[in-house]
Amino acid sequence: MTDYHNPKLVVQPGKVRSGKITWRSPSNIALIKYWGKYEPQMPRNPSLSFTLDAAYTETILEYGPKMSDRPGVAVDFMFHKEHNKAFSQKIEKFLTSLLPIYPFLSQIDLTIFSSNSFPHSAGIASSASSMSALALCLCTMEDELFGTLSSDEEFERKASYIARLGSGSACRSIFARAALWGETPDAIDSSNEYAIGWGHHLHPVFTTFHDDILIISKDEKSISSSAGHKLMDHNPYAETRYMTVNARLKRLIGILKAGDVEAMGVLVEQEAYSLHGLMMLSNPPYLLIKANTLAAIEKLVRWRDEQKVPLYFTLDAGPNLHLLYPDECASTVKNFIQNQLLTHCVNGAYIPDKVGAGPIQL
Ligand code: DP6
Repeated sequence: MTDYHNPKLVVQPGKVRSGKITWRSPSNIALIKYWGKYEPQMPRNPSLSFTLDAAYTETILEYGPKMSDRPGVAVDFMFHKEHNKAFSQKIEKFLTSLLPIYPFLSQIDLTIFSSNSFPHSAGIASSASSMSALALCLCTMEDELFGTLSSDEEFERKASYIARLGSGSACRSIFARAALWGETPDAIDSSNEYAIGWGHHLHPVFTTFHDDILIISKDEKSISSSAGHKLMDHNPYAETRYMTVNARLKRLIGILKAGDVEAMGVLVEQEAYSLHGLMMLSNPPYLLIKANTLAAIEKLVRWRDEQKVPLYFTLDAGPNLHLLYPDECASTVKNFIQNQLLTHCVNGAYIPDKVGAGPIQL
């Protein structure tokens, strides 16, 4: 077990410096999904994702000496330049939970400005990008104040660990192109506590892969991801899921290394159907896909069969469709999206995205 609890990370009273740190961190799309967890925020199965590019969060963290004698974490949180009570409470709770790791958080004043490259109401999950951006800012602040994270490897590992505590899938956003989170005999160094970079294993065809996100609905989901994870605790099919998902991951690892686009597409679609099947088989059952999700899937499958173009899809815990395809098919697929799929999107909304180079400090 990694133990980041560190009572020594305290600043000398009266000697707190001020600073400003900015990170841009992307979202990611899981090909094998993290679905179900146990305390403390550990995955019940390993997952593997592509890191995205266009969908990102930019977070500015300003810190300085604490002006009040209020105990605990003092944070002012702004989302898209406005105070947001719900988000502020969530961030304060998260930072408070980090006090055993970062005791200095109670000695300083923090102001955090966060904004997304995509509209908040677009219905795409922002916890991966936002929690990874915040974790990266916190690790940079640790290094500025204590000089404790000088190696890139140690920095990324800790940022991934901290991001995981904020939101499981966020731990995978720290790495360029692809990441693997969760213990598996098929990846040395894999861990339930943090993700590891996996981009260097990808066949070149996957390093330029596209993931265009069709915005099918902007409505709030009937069941949040957190509630969905919980429902896996008593899902009668959970055992089968956890018995079979490891074999699927093993196959995907081989496919991504070999560059077999068709096999990858078949596998990720099976995985997307499994995720939503598990939701329909849970107690109580629920459905997050919409009529337009199904309509778009049917069109996509028909078009793929007719045109022989390797266009595949995956879904997160929501109705929006992620379209996966190699760069060489980009112009054909973009025409198909424009002419036939945007009618299933809210006001024709979609986010063209692709595999990206990971977070950057600005
Ligand atoms: C279906 O990471 O959002 O997108 O850990 O409770 O914050 P929390 O859950 P979250 O779950 C993501 C679930 C998923 C699959 C995935 O990204 O692996």
